[in-house]
Parts: sequence; C-alpha cells; structure tokens
Amino acid sequence: MEILNTIFSEATNKALVNVVYILASVLFIFGLKMLGSPETARKGNLVSAMGMLIAVVVTLLDQSIIDYKWIFVGLVLGSLVGVIAAMKVKMTAMPEMVAIFNGFGGIASLLVGSSEYLLSAQHNTGILVPIFLTVVIGGLTFTGSLIAYGKLSGTITGNPVIYKGQQWINGILMVALLFLGIEMIALQGLLITMDWQILVAAVALSFLLGVLIVIPIGGADMPVVIALLNSYSGLAACAAGFVILNNVLIVAGALVGASGLILTNIMCKAMNRSLANVLFSGFGSVISVGGSSTEQQGEVRPINVADAYLILEAASSVVIVPGYGMAVAQAQHSVRELGELLEENGSEVQYAIHPVAGRMPGHMNVLLAEANVSYDQLIEPDDINPTIETTDVCIVIGANDVVNPAAREDPQSPIYGMPIINVDKAKTTFVLKRSMAPGFAGIENPLFFKTNTRMLFGDAKDSITSLVSEFKT
Ligand code: TAP
Repeated sequence: MEILNTIFSEATNKALVNVVYILASVLFIFGLKMLGSPETARKGNLVSAMGMLIAVVVTLLDQSIIDYKWIFVGLVLGSLVGVIAAMKVKMTAMPEMVAIFNGFGGIASLLVGSSEYLLSAQHNTGILVPIFLTVVIGGLTFTGSLIAYGKLSGTITGNPVIYKGQQWINGILMVALLFLGIEMIALQGLLITMDWQILVAAVALSFLLGVLIVIPIGGADMPVVIALLNSYSGLAACAAGFVILNNVLIVAGALVGASGLILTNIMCKAMNRSLANVLFSGFGSVISVGGSSTEQQGEVRPINVADAYLILEAASSVVIVPGYGMAVAQAQHSVRELGELLEENGSEVQYAIHPVAGRMPGHMNVLLAEANVSYDQLIEPDDINPTIETTDVCIVIGANDVVNPAAREDPQSPIYGMPIINVDKAKTTFVLKRSMAPGFAGIENPLFFKTNTRMLFGDAKDSITSLVSEFKT
C-alpha cells in the first residue's frame, strides 16, 4: 500500500479502498442500466467509464504492482492504439472491433492468472481454482475472438468449417483440460512436476479449444458468438479478480459475464433460435437462394424514383424500416433528410427498429442516432405492428429477413417464428435494395411479390438521395 500508506494506517486504507470500489461498482451498475435506452446510453457509457477511472486510479495508488514508468508506457501506447482504432473503424466493422476487444480482455486475464501461478511460491486450492479458470476461459476467449474477427473481416472463410468427429475432438479436448485442472488443483503437480509445463499445456489446449469451437459457426452468426465471448471475457476477468483478490475486478467481471449472457439470449430470442442452434447447426453455411419452401408468388413490380416520389408526396403516414443494407450503403444521413422533408410535407414519420436488423445489437439505433434522428421516432416492432395496416407507405431500406412474412406464415421456413415488422400489411410498401438477392438467412422473401409492394432497385443511398432531390425540386 505504497502511496496511501504514507497518508493513512493500513486498516484505514483497506476500508477506504473498498468503499471506493463499491462506489465504482455502483457506477458500473447505473451505467449499465442507462445503456438500456438510446436516450440515456451515451450518459450511461460516461458513468461506467467514470467508475472504471476511479477503480483504476485507486488501484494504482493502493498497490505498487510494478514501476509506474511501465504503467505510464502501457497507458500511452494502449490509448494511442485505442483512439486510432476507434477513429478509423467503419460502423459496419464495429462487430470485428468488439471481437478483438474481447480477445484482448481474455488474454489479459490469462496473463494475470499465469504470472500469479508462476511467481507465487505457495499455491492453495482456493487460489488454484480461479487461476485455472482464468487461464482456460481467458485462453479460449482470446483465440475464439481472433477467429470471430477473421470470419467477420473476411480474412478467413465465413463458412462453417465442419468435419467428421468434430464434437468428439472438442469433447476429448475438454476432458484433457479437465485432467490438467485436476492435476493442477487437486494433485498439485503429482504427475507433471514443473509448474510451467502444466501451465503451457493448459494455455495450449485452451487456445486450441477456442479455435475449434468457433470455426464451425457461420460468419453471419458471429455477432451472437461475440456477445457470448464477451460474456466469457467477463468471467475470465472475474476469475482474475479472485486470483489477485481485487473486489472491483470480481464485480466488473461478473457484470460483463452476466450482461453478455443476457445479450446473447436477447439476440437468440429475436432470431427465434436457441443458443445450441447458433453454436452447433452451421447456420448460414449454404446460401440457398429460393431454397425456402415459399414458392414465388406472382410478379415483381419495380418502381422508379419519380413515381415513388408521387406516392410519398401524397402519404399522410410513413414508416421507415432500416436494415443491414442501410448500414452497407451508409444511407442514414440521407434517410434522416428524407424523413424531415416528409414531415415538412405533412406526413407523420416513424422508424420501425427490429432488434436484430443489421449485424450487431442496436446497429440501427446507433446509425440513426449518428444521423440525429430523434429517439422518440424509433418504435419497436410490437408497438409499430398494430398500426401498420393504417400506414400509407412503408419504406424498407436494405432490410430483408426482418420484414419477411414467411416468418409469420410459412412453418417450413428456417426463420419461422422470428418476430418481424409486418410491412406487407401496409397500404403500399417500397423495398429499396440492389437486386433480388436474399439477406443473411439466405431465403426468398415473399414480400417482394406482394401486390402492394414496389421494388425500388439500386443502392439505398443513391435511391434515397434521388428521392430527397425530388422533394427539393
Ligand atoms: P438482411 O436480411 O441481411 O438483408 C439485407 C439486405 O440489404 C440484403 O437483402 C441486400 O440486398 C440489401 N443491401 C445490401 N447492401 C445494400 C445497399 N448498398 N443498398 C441497398 N440494399 C442493400 O438484413 P436485415 O433485414 O437487417 O436482417 C438482419 C439479419 O441478420 C437477420 O436475419 C438477423 O437474424 C441476422 N443477424 C443479426 C444480428 C444482429 S444482432 N443485428 C446478429 C446476427 C445475425 P441486395 O444485395 O439485393 O442489395
């Protein structure tokens, strides 16, 4: 207790530090709560960051872990890399960035556990259990996250890598890790005498397990996997907290672990899939265009910008439904401009936001917030669906699966049961996309063949910009 010891007695220091840790934990919890709504999310982020700053400063004052010089060097280098990465990353590449962050969290916990194992002279069971968990969970989070990053960025194949005996091999790896755990904790090196040998084996096996459990999952399911790995990184940090007996690390790790699991559950629910289905089904491997049981119903009715403008100009209510294509086209600013012009023209404008539209949780909310669309205009499917039948025009911008009526009508469809936005029930629906290509689920969309649907083909940003120009002339 270097610096604080010069001011207070050791017992007072301990109490003081724990009081500050409780304050930091309270800030984390309030911050998390505020992240639950777009209006308060930015403040929530700041509140949590404040909690983390307090926790870090008190820890640095409380414990002389290593020379402050090295902490400073790490701080500067880490901040530099973080700031450059955050400024350069495109919104569509955000899931990759989160994947890498999780991976770094995992490896950091692994290093804490490893150094504690190698450096402390005496090991008791109470400390060996969290050390082992830190190494194993941290290790598999690290390599699993690297694979998730590779799949999302296209560095490695996004297709599920499936081979014979895969589950067996993973099972054998887990049994081997269990054996190492028993050897490390219960037998305390009876068979493998050197500490470093047990550690290297545990690190190697957990690295391998991380790779093997993520490669069979399709690239498009990676956001769910990333939420799960996020939860793992929290659990690894929580275990690291027990290793170094740091209360705030235990609380923060547990919060990340729990919120990651809740998020994973929300995403699975919104896609109407179980976690087991995401992890083991190889979903997204085969893009089966027209592969659903839904037969092509009728013809496709394209529309041009001038005609679409005439219909919009006469509409008194408009619901905008953004999807992944809006993110790809980066059309959010033009969309906001179109929304404002429609309002000036006397239409009531709302944005229907599906929880899994896009490729990451809150994807549409983030893009529309960036374009300064008012939060009160963002409506959830349950609230917008009852009003759709009286809506004059729905504009679907690069969304596909989240507006696919097969989810409601076709029990054979792979997405049957997934809650959707019922745009097919509006008086008129415009679908803005470049082609008849399917979305993430790889299935045909009967919406495109409905008599009240008009397809406005082209890049979403180009189409919206042209509509904006029509309104301005
Ligand atoms: P998708 O079903 O993936 O469809 C996106 C559509 O956007 C495509 O059909 C594509 O058609 C179109 N598009 C792409 N680039 C475009 C551009 N530049 N301009 C205009 N259109 C463009 O998107 P969605 O409706 O948002 O559904 C999301 C899907 O991802 C769901 O199946 C969901 O389960 C899945 N998913 C989501 C998450 C999260 S957390 N959001 C996580 C995992 C999986 P064209 O190529 O013809 O243009």
